[in-house]
Amino acid sequence: MYVCICKGITESALREAVYQGAGRMRDLKASLGVTEQCGLCACHAKEVLDQTLLQKSQVQNFVSHSACACETAI
Ligand code: FES
Repeated sequence: MYVCICKGITESALREAVYQGAGRMRDLKASLGVTEQCGLCACHAKEVLDQTLLQKSQVQNFVSHSACACETAI
């Protein structure tokens, strides 16, 4: 699904950028150009950013807890 029509940026492209290290709207703007033209995509892009950051932290917590279990089992 397109988030930014002006730049042709999809939701999956935003999520990928967040998983690659973008943590703020300014990072997404710098790397993809989101909100650079009309700016109507800002709210939706921010929602995708926040949701993806939450998912990313949950995955990292799961992985770190899994690593702890492995270490204690050894
Ligand atoms: S829709 Fe993103 S800048 Fe216009």
